[in-house]
Amino acid sequence: MATESRSHWNRVYTTKTADTVSWYQVQPKISLELIAAANLAADAPIIDVGGGASLLVDHLLAKGRRELSVLDVSAAALNRVRERLGADAAKARWIEADVREFAPSQRYDLWHDRAVFHFLTDAADRAAYMAALRRSLNPRGHVVAATFALDGPARCSGLSVAQYDAASLHGEFGENFELLESRRETHITPAGAEQRFTWVHLRLR
Ligand SMILES: C[S@@+](CC[C@H](N)C(=O)[O-])C[C@H]1O[C@@H](n2cnc3c(N)ncnc32)[C@H](O)[C@@H]1O
Repeated sequence: MATESRSHWNRVYTTKTADTVSWYQVQPKISLELIAAANLAADAPIIDVGGGASLLVDHLLAKGRRELSVLDVSAAALNRVRERLGADAAKARWIEADVREFAPSQRYDLWHDRAVFHFLTDAADRAAYMAALRRSLNPRGHVVAATFALDGPARCSGLSVAQYDAASLHGEFGENFELLESRRETHITPAGAEQRFTWVHLRLR
């Protein structure tokens, strides 16, 4: 499963440009707003899980964040971002890993996931993701997560996805997390299609 996932995503990032994938966004507005709402110090460790070729790391570096990690199963995606950042790439940590098997070497104050968890349509995969999150998050740590909404797409990148509203997404993370905020978003893809997302900002109790 992990190997299939790796080859699928490496193929995506080697055959498409970063700005033509459906999830591309120039300004990761809600991510930045919810991360700002966590009110963390500039050196608080933050991880972008399944960060792909997202511009979030560029924006967070520009805001002076000093402890950023980007994890992705695709080495091709991480290489894209490192090439884009040039010398600034040395200011972040790059982790090629499947989140379901992630063995962190440090703990994080904030775990960001835009459009990764919803690919885990098997209960065992979701359990493995949650175990990785438990290994990774500091006490009182934050989670900022987005998935397709109940009225969002049923597939992405040729793969089935699970859809959530804020209550069901919070339910997946569990009652150990307090729901601080939820939002709905309509993302416009580069091809002009509308995709509805659910966002949650959670914090470990
Ligand atoms: C829809 S893209 C979203 C990328 C990015 N978060 C964004 O908002 O632009 C999903 C990303 O998750 C990564 N991914 C998929 N399954 C993964 C897994 N099991 N572990 C780690 N990364 C994964 C893919 O390589 C891809 O970069």
